[in-house]
Amino acid sequence: MSRRQFLSYTLGGTGGFMMSLPLIANLRFAVDPLLQPKAESDWVKVIEVEKVTDTPTSVNFEKNVVDGWYESDKGFGAWITKEANGDIFALSPICKHLGCTVEWEKNVNYPNEYFCPCHAARYTRDGKNLAVAPAPLDEYEVKVENGFVYLSQIKPNTRVE
Ligand code: FES
Repeated sequence: MSRRQFLSYTLGGTGGFMMSLPLIANLRFAVDPLLQPKAESDWVKVIEVEKVTDTPTSVNFEKNVVDGWYESDKGFGAWITKEANGDIFALSPICKHLGCTVEWEKNVNYPNEYFCPCHAARYTRDGKNLAVAPAPLDEYEVKVENGFVYLSQIKPNTRVE
């Protein structure tokens, strides 16, 4: 190996290593959210069980949401209803047509239904889509503990087909 080759390899290798340092340092920031431990629970206490009836009740709550490096408290809503057997379920108020907010018995022409004021989508008490919307209202994971209703993740409606 000539002196020129030795210097060329040595300086090239050192230069390449120096150039890669910022990439190595930034790799940590890029994957860091993936390395963070998941929150143990994301249940949110929303209402006393005693206040839930067979008529849907609207609740609003905040939930801490982590999106990569961005963490914030985001507002959510739900319609909570008690079935005849005492079970409680909660529907997302987000219309499955284009995302407006549905309301219970909003339109006098459609009693006992959720109604979306944007394009007149309608849903049953269980969230089944009757008009305009292509799918049923989503549902929340629900648990009852110490006399309170807790909500967690939103999932596809399991109450209707
Ligand atoms: S967004 Fe609800 S009907 Fe269009």
